Amino acid sequence: MRKTFELLQKNWLDLVVVFASVVLLNFPILRISASLFSVYVVSVVIWMIFVKPKISVRPYCLHKSYLYLLFNLVLAGSLFARIVEREFGSHASLFFVPVALVSLLVNKDVALGLSLFFSVSHIFLRNLQDFPAVFLSTVVVALTTANIRKRLEIARTALYAGSVTVGYLILMFYSSARNFDWKESLIAIVSPVVLSIATLGILPYIEYASLIYSNIGMMELGNLNNQLLKNLSLKAPGTYYHSAMVANLAEAAAEKIGANAILARTAAYFHDIGKLRRPYFYTENISEVNPHDELSPKLSHLIIQDHVKAGLEIAKKHRLPVLVQDVIPQHHGTRVQRFFYHKAKTLGEELSENEFRYPGPKPQFKEAGIIMLADAVEAAARSMKNPTAGRVQTLVEEILSGIYNERELDESGLTLKDLEAIGEEFTRILVNMFKSRIEYPKEEIKRVISLAGDSTDKQNTKKTQNEQIKDDDSANNR
Ligand SMILES: [Fe+2]
Ligand SMILES: [Fe+2]
Repeated sequence: MRKTFELLQKNWLDLVVVFASVVLLNFPILRISASLFSVYVVSVVIWMIFVKPKISVRPYCLHKSYLYLLFNLVLAGSLFARIVEREFGSHASLFFVPVALVSLLVNKDVALGLSLFFSVSHIFLRNLQDFPAVFLSTVVVALTTANIRKRLEIARTALYAGSVTVGYLILMFYSSARNFDWKESLIAIVSPVVLSIATLGILPYIEYASLIYSNIGMMELGNLNNQLLKNLSLKAPGTYYHSAMVANLAEAAAEKIGANAILARTAAYFHDIGKLRRPYFYTENISEVNPHDELSPKLSHLIIQDHVKAGLEIAKKHRLPVLVQDVIPQHHGTRVQRFFYHKAKTLGEELSENEFRYPGPKPQFKEAGIIMLADAVEAAARSMKNPTAGRVQTLVEEILSGIYNERELDESGLTLKDLEAIGEEFTRILVNMFKSRIEYPKEEIKRVISLAGDSTDKQNTKKTQNEQIKDDDSANNR
């Protein structure tokens, strides 16, 4: 009994939203009947099994705004679906807009749960016979909008959703279950097209208001023409280059482990945006005089650490997505700034390690963990003297295992298997990047030349030498 009460108390808002959704799906009849109540019970069960658990995972559970966005879309979607249904019937892709928006802004799993929730609630209130068409076309919307990166791709969703409904109507006609209605078929084809345009039209407003961004919105933000990134390139070119490199590493690693590569890329572009405030204090932007030479290690640490606070302020002011904002403090987690800590120790200052620690929090989701790793790897790789494939691999492995052993990744959801894959991907990209810097093995050249010198055919020997030197030159120039 106590458990039931606690459960009701914990989920009271969900119960209210589901109830309001069922009532709105029955609009304008607002009478609460026994049949409406039974539909409500079924809807609550579906919500609690297929929707709530999917939105209660990281990173969505970190921000209440995800749940509130879902509630608003469910309520507005229910009312809108009912209005469309009264005008155009059940086959007008009733749930296209809310399901597509949830798929774009949250993820495919929540959208699939919502497809079942909407279809069952609607069909129980109306005509059970049409359940396959309504459910399948809504599932198609949920599945095909999830990975959209360009606006035009939503046309494919509209085409698939319309085809599924028309296919169902034709099937019903041939199985003699119902007459073929041209008007109904035309609505089934046209409505998803119109609703897909409406979805894209409303998307930027929701993104701006909720700070929850779709992949389309993220791609637009992660464009190097973005004003904030342009400022970074002018005021802190070193940080700008570093951020672009971190973005490349993070995107590839996220892709490899099945995390959100677009989020990783965009968040990486903005992770050090706070360095815009005092760019000349950061290694990558220092050209001649190092301002830290004149400062105490503790003060240097405080100035460097300030880029996290400044970054959050800039991100909030420019309304960057909540997950991008999260990455700003999380990319340093609670790590110690060892350089200034050791400098303080060398100067004989009695300061504890904790005084050189970033405030955190530790990375809270996979993409934030990947950016922490990419950030550390990029900074270390940049200062490598003679990079070879072996040295790059050792460096990457050392940094990844170091951060793992510091327990900075404990809350990120990254597994050891993920770390292995991330390490491989970082090594591959860095080795490719350093190709032009990797020295050509000189002993090999000497050996080839001396072998050629043993040959009796002098002309051929000369030719071989020339070709080898040419190859050598081109390898070094690559
Ligand atoms: Fe940073
Ligand atoms: Fe960084």
